[in-house]
Amino acid sequence: MKKLAVFASGSGTNFEAIAQACADGRLDAGVALMVCDKPGAAVVARAERFGIPSFVASPKEFGGKAGFEQEIVRRMDAIGIDLVCLAGYMRILSDVMLDAYGGRIINIHPSLLPAFKGAHAVEDAVAYGVKVYGISIHWVNAELDGGKIIAQRAFEYDGNDPEEVHRIGQKIEHALYVETIAKLLKQI
Ligand code: GAR
Repeated sequence: MKKLAVFASGSGTNFEAIAQACADGRLDAGVALMVCDKPGAAVVARAERFGIPSFVASPKEFGGKAGFEQEIVRRMDAIGIDLVCLAGYMRILSDVMLDAYGGRIINIHPSLLPAFKGAHAVEDAVAYGVKVYGISIHWVNAELDGGKIIAQRAFEYDGNDPEEVHRIGQKIEHALYVETIAKLLKQI
């Protein structure tokens, strides 16, 4: 069975969708590690509920991002992680992580990339007044929300409520992330 690491900084609904799919057997994999850079984030309690081992710490505790990532890489190497799934992990990865796991790291982003990169994609898209929104899953490189696109799913919305767009988008995210991971697991 393949081993996934899921990185998150916040609520962790995508983490939960992946963990649930592993538990149900919809994914032929297990979440072997949850990494969170924000102690106190809701994702930490979700991981506990699933009994999934987690590494929760602030990069400051390791002298910054490079030291933090060295510790994550050390833990992932010890477990033998096959695929890293960023799920609302709000940091750009450094060379430490990319040198060790580049080509095995994917991210989900709430826009039709390359439009609306960054931490406020939905708000920016609503402010712009777009009528077609979407979700992207892409390979991770050193650029913010950069890297080759793996999957996208669009939806129409004609309004100005970012919360509503988040709600619609997150349902799509949970399904699309699991489907995409399932496809990738067959290739690795
Ligand atoms: C998701 O909507 C994800 O697309 C977004 O963070 C949210 C995390 O939600 N990621 C980015 O914006 C990456 N640039 P979750 O914690 O409920 O899974």
